[in-house]
Amino acid sequence: EKAGFDHFMLKEIYDQPTAYRDTMGSRISGENDQVVLNEIKMTDEEIKSIDRVHIVACGTAYHAGLVGKNVIEKLARIPVETDVASEYRYRSPIITKNTLVIVVSQSGETADTLAALREAKRQGARVIAITNVVGSSVSREADDVITTWAGPEIAVASTKAYTSQLIAFYLFGLYLAQKLDTVEADEVKKVIAALQELPQQVESILEQAEQIKTVAEKISLHNNLFFIGRGLDFSVVLEGSLKLKEISYIHSEAYAAGELKHGTLALIEEGIPVIALATQEDVFEKTVSNIEEVVARGAYVLGVNQEGNEELAKVVNESFTIPRTLDVLSPALSVIPLQLLSYFASLARGNDVDKPRNLAKSVTVE
Ligand code: F6R
Repeated sequence: EKAGFDHFMLKEIYDQPTAYRDTMGSRISGENDQVVLNEIKMTDEEIKSIDRVHIVACGTAYHAGLVGKNVIEKLARIPVETDVASEYRYRSPIITKNTLVIVVSQSGETADTLAALREAKRQGARVIAITNVVGSSVSREADDVITTWAGPEIAVASTKAYTSQLIAFYLFGLYLAQKLDTVEADEVKKVIAALQELPQQVESILEQAEQIKTVAEKISLHNNLFFIGRGLDFSVVLEGSLKLKEISYIHSEAYAAGELKHGTLALIEEGIPVIALATQEDVFEKTVSNIEEVVARGAYVLGVNQEGNEELAKVVNESFTIPRTLDVLSPALSVIPLQLLSYFASLARGNDVDKPRNLAKSVTVE
């Protein structure tokens, strides 16, 4: 079942190019210039009436929702809030019939997410579920379902489900943009073309896994570290940090890079590892200056950026590049080295990679 891999997690990391292709599948049509989501039954009028979006999920799915917020706001220009499901219900969110609630759940059985879905429906919102399990509770109760075609995910640490959720958000964001006319047709075409390059770009990252393994073995000797990034990179480092915590048991914190100097910089000392994402071109220079702040205090830095920019490599101890893509799509690439980093760090520490202590694959109690 592990198809020759040592662990399900590693197999699932390598399943990602296929998962991307399957999730995009027949949803891109025409001359590769249109997103078609037949599973969305909303009328054009209903879509035009949406005045806010709430994305609700737990854990890794929540992190996909943070990217989803950025994607929908950018492409469809509708205000979006992303919440963890265990908080959402208890903070009296403002839900009207013009609210679109998107719940994200790999298993479709997470108790808090399901309860949030029910509450949203009770208050009259339209609910879309992004889930990996056809026929799951969440898929049965939502008004519309966008299935991620990642295939069964066995390892407790989610990898291909997360990235397939990102693909679902890209498709849905483009779908809304077409309906609402918020993005020029040429631009939509450009994003679709870049989306379709992702699977092969993931393959090329996976070919460089050894490079990440070397860094992972070094950081596996530490008990504390930091992840930093700005914009979408911040959303991705939150996921990278969670992944590392759950399977390597190394404590880490993910910080918005510009926020370091408001307190956290006090914890940066000689030799502490810092994983820095700098894939967002519009804030690249600012991120590099944040990286320089930790370098100056002796941190051991792994920097990740898009290829073709040599500037970051000059500043950091270790550098890793992802293939060039649109900034908005970079999470679908930049998370891959972070998944590999967690996997190899967990392995180096002799942990049970697929079944970390205290955790269950599906959390069906509140
Ligand atoms: C982390 C992880 C969890 C799940 C969370 C939600 O790797 O897997 O954080 O993402 O428990 O699960 P689903 O998506 O099944 O609702």
